[in-house]
Amino acid sequence: MAAERTSLFIFFGGTGDLAYRKLYPSMYNLYKKGTLREHFGVLGTSREKLTDEQFRDQVRKSLGTTKTDKDAEKFISHFVYEAHDVTDKAHYQVLKTRAEELDKKYELNGNRIFYLSLAPSFFGTVAGFLKTEGLTDTKGFDRVVIEKPFGRDFDSAQQLNDALSKSFDEEQIFRIDHYLGKEMIQNIEAVRFGNTLVESLWNNRYIDNIQVTLSEKLGVEERASYYDNSGALRDMVQNHIMQIVSLLAMEQPVSFTDVDIRAEKVKALRSLRVYNVAEASTNFVRGQYGAGDSQRAYRDEDNVPHDSNNDTFVAGKLLFDNYRWSGTPFYIRTGKMLADKFTRVDVVFKKPLIDIFSFPQNHNAPLEANVLTMYIEPHAGFSLRLNAKTNGQGFQTEPINLDYFVDAKDSKATPEPYERLIHDVMKGDGTNFSSWQEVSYAWRFVDQIRKVWDLQQPQFPNYTPGSMGPASADELIQRDHRQWVYRLNK
Ligand code: NDP
Ligand code: BG6
Repeated sequence: MAAERTSLFIFFGGTGDLAYRKLYPSMYNLYKKGTLREHFGVLGTSREKLTDEQFRDQVRKSLGTTKTDKDAEKFISHFVYEAHDVTDKAHYQVLKTRAEELDKKYELNGNRIFYLSLAPSFFGTVAGFLKTEGLTDTKGFDRVVIEKPFGRDFDSAQQLNDALSKSFDEEQIFRIDHYLGKEMIQNIEAVRFGNTLVESLWNNRYIDNIQVTLSEKLGVEERASYYDNSGALRDMVQNHIMQIVSLLAMEQPVSFTDVDIRAEKVKALRSLRVYNVAEASTNFVRGQYGAGDSQRAYRDEDNVPHDSNNDTFVAGKLLFDNYRWSGTPFYIRTGKMLADKFTRVDVVFKKPLIDIFSFPQNHNAPLEANVLTMYIEPHAGFSLRLNAKTNGQGFQTEPINLDYFVDAKDSKATPEPYERLIHDVMKGDGTNFSSWQEVSYAWRFVDQIRKVWDLQQPQFPNYTPGSMGPASADELIQRDHRQWVYRLNK
């Protein structure tokens, strides 16, 4: 049984899609594992007028349980609801009273987690009122969880951060990046810093390039009004990809604590080259999907303007100007409506300086590069491509793979990202959240690409659903005499 954690949760946006699909089921998992037991309370809020019972019905639906499920009912009984408009200052007093009742009833020691599962435009307002109206005035901890997106560029992110900082210190702010809650993303550190074999080769002397691919099979779905104002660069690169890249690029932290890990990630991001106009144009490409066999073009999706120039695909080359990585590019790509749904990192090592097997009389194919692939999702595992002798008479070599995959039973037991992250918030562990400095350096990098794109007219649509993006994404890497490790029709 896990150690019990004690806290009151106030979910702003408590009737929203995220709360329903992810947050309540994750809380229930924590309950089933014993992290939440008797000493927790949940106060859901939104403008909709609901009774506690009606709110509990929603929670029950989100868990997929029925009233006959005694264990689930015990969990749900800790949920109450208060209709509340976050812009209405006076109403925070009602929330405060309700919070105090729950605190007393469940003996919560004044511990409070304010989860802002709301449109980002409200983040600053809510944080401000929580402080001025005294909801943070307790003897326990006060922590605020902020959903993405954290700003839409550096300036807006800074404004938001300034607003939050008036009410909360940095260590009280937990900026969600759900990729950091994924099992295999957390495995990057284990593989890097737990293996002499890996870490001793983890630099520009032995690694030729690193490729990060976040591929999505689905299109924009029902989120067009958000996505058309965001695009793949803001939606996936600024946060998820930059976080993955910083874990791959950082130096070994002094200790495995949030403070030291974040410090190294920030250092890595600081040495990421921020591109000028020419570099941004050369090193980044964008795409937008057109129509496919039974698929509408992005511009024909519901709530997307017919002349939208929004990017549904990005590929780019990142360069770190530091001793470890100088000369070793990181190639990244992500997009909607691609061939498949998967996330992977391919670490491509340099080939041996001399290929002694490839003398003409042997007719041996040239040695291939070693590749360490980290399969993040849907299957979790690693694969290491080595060259080995082909079995049999004569002497030929061929690439073979050493594979490890998490088995189905363990996969099933893997906590969902939100479960892990909510648990971390209760523990006060910020390791798997984005610090302000990380966010700000990521925006500084991304803003340069965005600025250049804003000045240029793209030729959209430029890729078909089911492909791996536009031809320009292949050209980007081929120009450097390299290719994507994962490609179609290989
Ligand atoms: P929804 O639009 O589904 O929910 C928004 C919630 O906010 C509703 O409960 C709504 O209820 C409430 N709300 C809106 N205006 C107010 C107000 N003035 N006062 C009080 N409550 C208000 O959004 P999502 O759940 O999808 O997203 C929430 C956050 O999570 C956003 O920041 C989003 O970017 C982020 N996110 C969501 C993901 C997802 O998969 N859904 C994925 C990643 C991030 P009501 O209208 O009744 O007030
Ligand atoms: C979200 C993006 O942050 O991540 C979505 O807003 C995207 O557009 C999603 O689909 C992908 O997450 P996952 O966990 O399904 O890879």
